[in-house]
Formats: sequence, C-alpha cells, structure tokens
Amino acid sequence: MSDFAKLIIGEREFELPIHQGTEGHRAIDISKLLAQTGHITLDDGYGNTGATESQITYVDGENGVLRYRGYAIEDLAQRCDFTETAYLLIYGELPTAEQLEEFRASIRTHTLLHEGMKQIFAGFPPDAHPMAILSSVVGALAIYSGDTIDARDPEQQQLAIYRMMAKMPTIAAFSYKQSIGQPFIYPENRLTYCQNFLQMMFAVPSERYEMDPDFVDALNLLLILHADHGQNCSTSAVRMVGSSTVNLFSSISAGICALWGALHGGANEACINMLDMIRADGGNLGKYIDRAKDPNDEFRLMGFGHRVYKNYDPRATIIKEVCHKLLAKQKKPDPIFQLAQELEEVALNDSYFVDRRLYPNVDFYSGIIYRAMGIPENMFTVLFALGRLPGWIAHWREMHLAPTMRIHRPRQLYTGSPKREFVPLIKR
Ligand code: CMC
Repeated sequence: MSDFAKLIIGEREFELPIHQGTEGHRAIDISKLLAQTGHITLDDGYGNTGATESQITYVDGENGVLRYRGYAIEDLAQRCDFTETAYLLIYGELPTAEQLEEFRASIRTHTLLHEGMKQIFAGFPPDAHPMAILSSVVGALAIYSGDTIDARDPEQQQLAIYRMMAKMPTIAAFSYKQSIGQPFIYPENRLTYCQNFLQMMFAVPSERYEMDPDFVDALNLLLILHADHGQNCSTSAVRMVGSSTVNLFSSISAGICALWGALHGGANEACINMLDMIRADGGNLGKYIDRAKDPNDEFRLMGFGHRVYKNYDPRATIIKEVCHKLLAKQKKPDPIFQLAQELEEVALNDSYFVDRRLYPNVDFYSGIIYRAMGIPENMFTVLFALGRLPGWIAHWREMHLAPTMRIHRPRQLYTGSPKREFVPLIKR
C-alpha cells in the first residue's frame, strides 16, 4: 500500500488507500467506504471492480499480454504440457520432474468414476447438451466423494483437487458417449491426460482407435491456452460459490454453468454455428457485418470482442497459427477457416470494430480446430471447461489460502417501490 486517493462527498473529505499490483496497476481500496461514508460503489457488470488480489494470471488487455504465474502464454504453449501448466497454476511454481510425476500419478489414481454414476448418465435424455450433463455430474461428485467435501481441511482439499482433475475428462467423454448412444470407454492410465481424453471420446470397443499425434498436440495446446484468465465470469462464479465454503465439486459445477453461456465459453459453439450460417447464406459477409453493427439487431459477431482485451487476444494469434498447421494436412482447404479469415479481415477494416477495439478472441478460431479433430459442436464448450479446470481450482485454492477470505456478498442500490400498504387479494 503506498498512497491515498481523496474522495469528497459534500463537505467531507475521505482518504482511500491505494494498492499497487506488481505490474504497476493501481486499485483504490473501498472496503471501508460504507462504514466511513455511508456510501457504496455501483459498477454494473463489475467492469471496474477488483474483486480480489490474485497472484495467478496477469492479463494486459491494452497490449494483448497473458501470463500464468509470470510465464508468457507463448512460452508455456510451446514448452509445457497441460498437466505441467495445471501444476503451475494451482501451486504457483513450475514443478520439478519429481513433483510433476507425483502430480500425474496422483491424478491417474482417480480417473475412474464410481460405477453408480453410470446410472446418472443413463437418466439423461439423448439430446441433452453435454454442458448440462457435465455440470450435473460434476455436482454429483460431491455425493460420490463424500470424504473430500470439507473445503477448509487441507488434506481433503488436496484429494478433491486430484479427483477433480482426474474425473473431469472421464465425465466429459462419458457425456459425449451418452449423447450419441455409444458405450462408455473407460480411462486407460498408461496414456497421457490428452491421449486418455481422446481415447475415451473416440474409441469404440469393436475397433482399434488410431490416435493422430497432431490432434493430441493440438488438444494439449488448446487446453493450455484456456487454462486461466483472471476473474472472468466462470472463475468469479467458482470463487463466489466457493466463498460460502462449499466443496470444490459444487464450486466447479457452478463454474461450468457460468461458462456455458454464449457470451462466455459458449461463444466457441456459437461462433462455428455463425460461420456455418453465413456460409449457408452464400458467404455474404457484408450482410452479417451490418447486422452486427445494427444496435436494433441482437446479432453479434461471435468470437469477437472482449471485456479486457482491447487488442488482438494473444490466444487467438496462437490458435490461428495452429489452424494453418493442422488444416494444411487436409486434402482440401477448409472453407470455414477461409471464411473466418475473410470475416476477420473485413471486421478489422471496419470503423465500427476499429473504434470499439473489437478483435478476434480465443473462441473465434478454436472451433475450427475442434471440428478438424472430429469433435462435435456441442462438445466445444466442454473442451473449454476441461482447459479452464486448473484455473478454477487455482482460484478456489488461492481464495481458501488467503487470510482475508470471507463470504462474497455484493451490495445493491435498491431502486424498487418505497414502502406501501398491503392490498388484500379480493381488492386487487
Ligand atoms: N459484435 C458486435 N458488436 C460488439 C461485439 C461483437 N462481438 N462485442 C462488443 N460489441 C459492441 C457493443 O455492442 C458495444 O457497442 P456500443 O458501444 O455501440 O453499445 C461495444 O462494442 C462494447 O461492447 P460491450 O457489450 O459493452 O462489451 P462487454 O465488455 O460488456 O462484452 C463481450 C464483452 C465478450 C461479452 C462482447 O464483446 C461479446 O458479446 N462478444 C461476442 C461473444 C464472445 O465472443 N464471447 C467470448 C469472449 S472471450 C472468451 C470468454 O471469456 O469466454
């Protein structure tokens, strides 16, 4: 804490402490404002509200910078694997070889689901969205992992983290298998995290599954890129729910629900649907650019714009490069990738998008890779959830470790009716 901001309300003057972040950003501490001044702050959508101090992820939206625990996303994407990145996010340091092997082994031990959980999947209708299944079944882990639901007990916390990391790919793949009526493929612990997930998704008991190593690499990279992003909607949901001291599984289930929305993780599915729609409509980009700009039309360019990035999302840059590499293997150019690049070009030269500083975000190109890997559209956001899991866990753990932890309970400015007399039913 270095200096103070002065706030003048009427005749009175108040001093508010200023906190400084490691990268020079400054925050006015208003935690005592109500007690000192009788006022609260108002910030719909929290665009200007720091909900916590955090040491996990640094996002510089002006310059398109993203770092996990101080390491550039570009370095991690090139040199790490997903479990290594997960360790870094959750525990704060890159693991030694020994620590990494121990982490991987601890996760491997827990990949199976309780057999009783298969009945939960069986109860869902065939057209159930896999995100709804994922959030329900992750929530149900609190029942099947009853010995790890004390969120304040460090040992239970640790075991819950291993279980959550281990079971999420199994639940995600089972959600898909359930939705297409195929038998569940059990985890194979000799495989890596990403190989295991692809095997559970695509193998069938009747045939040998040949895994494309490029798909494994692409999945590993996409999961790393999605692994954390500060106080986004789903992470805030995890923290909010977790702040009541409920268990990890229930907190993560809340995060999955928040992620599903089209303005957040659901944008990857919405984006590919949008690109398909534009193509089916003759590829008339101008028509859709005009619709996106029309304030009376609800249509938005999905995969474009970001609350924090006012520059190119560094994750989108990396994903676009991978699209080029992966799709080069295909015999014919991918028309949707071509269309996406044209759309980007048109938008980035249009004053509406330039003035509002709207650039492609992580969801603009990711669906094109998922589709090339054979992953169906309704699983795209599930893949996002799989990637974001270590970030959610890291924030949940960081919150529990903080000496300042208290239940999250925002205020409101009441603007409803003043006190009025009750009117009996027969007189209404
Ligand atoms: N297409 C057209 N106009 C847009 C778009 C877009 N994708 N995004 C923002 N705008 C306009 C918006 O209409 C507003 O215009 P005006 O100032 O004239 O009212 C201006 O840009 C500012 O937008 P905002 O809605 O106030 O910005 P926000 O910070 O509240 O919303 C956002 C951020 C990501 C929800 C929004 O940009 C959006 O809806 N994008 C499309 C959905 C999407 O791609 N979401 C994924 C986000 S990245 C991954 C993740 O977080 O999950």
